[in-house]
Amino acid sequence: MVRIGILISGRGSNLLAIGQAIRDRRLSGAEISVVLSNREDATGVMAARELGIQVEVVPSKGRERVEHDAQLIALLRRHSVDLVCLAGYMRLLSPSFTQAFPERILNIHPSLLPAFPGLEAQQQALQYGAKITGCTVHFVDEHLDHGVIVAQRTVSVEDDETVSTLSARILEQEHIAYPEAIQHVIGGQYEIHGRTYRRRSTEVT
Ligand code: GRF
Repeated sequence: MVRIGILISGRGSNLLAIGQAIRDRRLSGAEISVVLSNREDATGVMAARELGIQVEVVPSKGRERVEHDAQLIALLRRHSVDLVCLAGYMRLLSPSFTQAFPERILNIHPSLLPAFPGLEAQQQALQYGAKITGCTVHFVDEHLDHGVIVAQRTVSVEDDETVSTLSARILEQEHIAYPEAIQHVIGGQYEIHGRTYRRRSTEVT
């Protein structure tokens, strides 16, 4: 069993989608071992607890990043976490964190990276006049929204689109993309060449 640790700061819908995929066996060979939140008031904290998932709250307000991250690393190790999934974790990670889990941290971002990194990606896409946007699951490196791309799903931008309608449709795709990408990564059938994540053919000849 691959032990997943999920980091959140807010609503937690991606965390719940991963949990649902595990229950539906769309995501197999993995379990959520722990959820870490840097905010006690995150909606996802309560939702995860209701599902019986172990949650640890590690408040980050006013704390040095490296020191806070060291506490997260220690907790993830204590829970023997193999794969870290960021799901709406609204805090930059220090290089000490990314180095502690090399090629073992995933993030989901609500745009087709490298377009519209950072905050309010859906609003950025609308304001820019993009006709197609979507979501990206990527490995996390020391730069913001930058690591190797594992998977992307597209969403077309309609003429009467608002930030909230667009965000909702992207979120639907996120909930499909994230469990699928996790399944692929934990299956190990890939190679990374430079920035390219290449799926290995599993065909038997
Ligand atoms: C999602 O849009 C995700 O792409 C972004 O933050 C949001 C988190 O939503 N990184 P939720 O907390 O998973 O509902």
